[in-house]
Amino acid sequence: SRHWQGLISAYRPWLPVSDSTPVVSLHEGNTPLLRAEHLSALTDCEVWLKVEGANPTGSFKDRGITVAVSKALETSPDNTIVCASTGNTSASAAAYAARAGLPAAVLVPRKNVALGKLAQAVRYGAKIIKVDGSFDDCLRIARELSAHHPVTLVNSVNDHRLAGQQTVAFEIIDALGDAPDIHCLPVGNAGNITAIWRGYTAYAAAHLSTGRPRMWGFQAAGAAPLVNGAVVARPQTVANAIQIGNPASWDGAVSAREESGGLISAVTDEQILSAYRLLARREGVFAEPASAAAIAGLLAEHGRGRLDAGQRIVITVSGNGLKDPETSMLGGDESVETSPRTADVAQAMNLTSS
Ligand code: F0G
Repeated sequence: SRHWQGLISAYRPWLPVSDSTPVVSLHEGNTPLLRAEHLSALTDCEVWLKVEGANPTGSFKDRGITVAVSKALETSPDNTIVCASTGNTSASAAAYAARAGLPAAVLVPRKNVALGKLAQAVRYGAKIIKVDGSFDDCLRIARELSAHHPVTLVNSVNDHRLAGQQTVAFEIIDALGDAPDIHCLPVGNAGNITAIWRGYTAYAAAHLSTGRPRMWGFQAAGAAPLVNGAVVARPQTVANAIQIGNPASWDGAVSAREESGGLISAVTDEQILSAYRLLARREGVFAEPASAAAIAGLLAEHGRGRLDAGQRIVITVSGNGLKDPETSMLGGDESVETSPRTADVAQAMNLTSS
């Protein structure tokens, strides 16, 4: 059928599933790959946005969770689905668990989870555990739980997650006809950079692309363990999706950077918020702050003279802006109030009569 039925259906031979795996899908994937005219002009390159916020729960996490929850239903249907999360993984895990008919529990830091993500987990019916600590504490606890209790951990330490998240590289190559020169993305727990690099590598090995991109990962300056080369005890950033001090896939991120001849750099909260506004205002794409870190990073590297002209660049726009309404409203909404009279509305709009 030509009707899109999700990643497992589209990329089955590349995924760890068999005919006896029950497919738990919300028809994730097949997200828009958009030409970014303004960013292309700013950088003298050909810039594309892979809009992962268009996935069913609003982030790229759905790619990994569809595989992880399908495998959980196949191999451990009596287990509870568990994850640690800064919000997006919890929303995705809760949704796919609901669809599979499995119970879910999500461990989130008590503070700093964006409102939209919590709203999702509440409605999908997950047990929400607010831990008085950081994401790194939540992940440590979730791993300990999974060692001693009937739970299936669906963080990216679960290899099925990484298998699913590779598929974005397949979609990009299938759409562009080859791998891009550079792939930019935000980095937090570092599962995604690990998975996407694996995807590009798999397609290149199968001769479905002629090469692999350089992987350019970006962390927030207050949460940049991979840039500093040291764990950050108290990570801080406005981009709370990537407020992580001790990434689980540390080695995967370093390998992706080294094998691809890429880089992992830090961007400040100011640069992130400025890219957040630019992306919506100039490209029409409303993304959450963590996603904007990748745009901020590309612009910063261009500013440092590290970006040759004419390259083809794909940016992972990792999460939907609706996830975090509070950050969008930070500087006020600049709205104007009027009476219900047309003349007053016209005046509020600065319209002149013709
Ligand atoms: N962008 C968004 C919107 C995210 O939610 C995350 C991670 C990342 C980027 C970074 O990806 O961790 O694979 O390096 N969010 C996780 C979560 C930690 O719990 O939702 P990563």
